[in-house]
Amino acid sequence: MTEWKMICRIDDIPVLGARRVSRAQGMDVAVFRNDANEVFALLDRCPHKGGPLSQGMVMGQRVACPLHNWTISLCDGQAAAPDQGCTPSFAVKLENGLVHLDAHELANHATDLTRPTAGPACKQAA
Ligand code: FES
Repeated sequence: MTEWKMICRIDDIPVLGARRVSRAQGMDVAVFRNDANEVFALLDRCPHKGGPLSQGMVMGQRVACPLHNWTISLCDGQAAAPDQGCTPSFAVKLENGLVHLDAHELANHATDLTRPTAGPACKQAA
């Protein structure tokens, strides 16, 4: 049986925006709200190069990554063709104006993924 953890009120998430939920392990989860008051949750990591999807523009059931404009489905995390890739999605429940995430997923899902680091390439050994 799913144990739901209350995250916030839907009104705490900007329309066409997102709110980040930090976790004890792993990257933040981004909880999105569209203009139909639907809520979605994805790992805050674009499948392209790790951009913060929580800072992207929500359009219907998709979000445009702020870095290179890939479009990611809020329903399942899949990148729209011709781009390829997927970011992990999380179960989310909206009940009586309150947003909940699956407590088990929040603690355990995709905790091994990190944001790519920018910078010069490693020096190769001679
Ligand atoms: S990192 Fe998201 S489109 Fe490139």
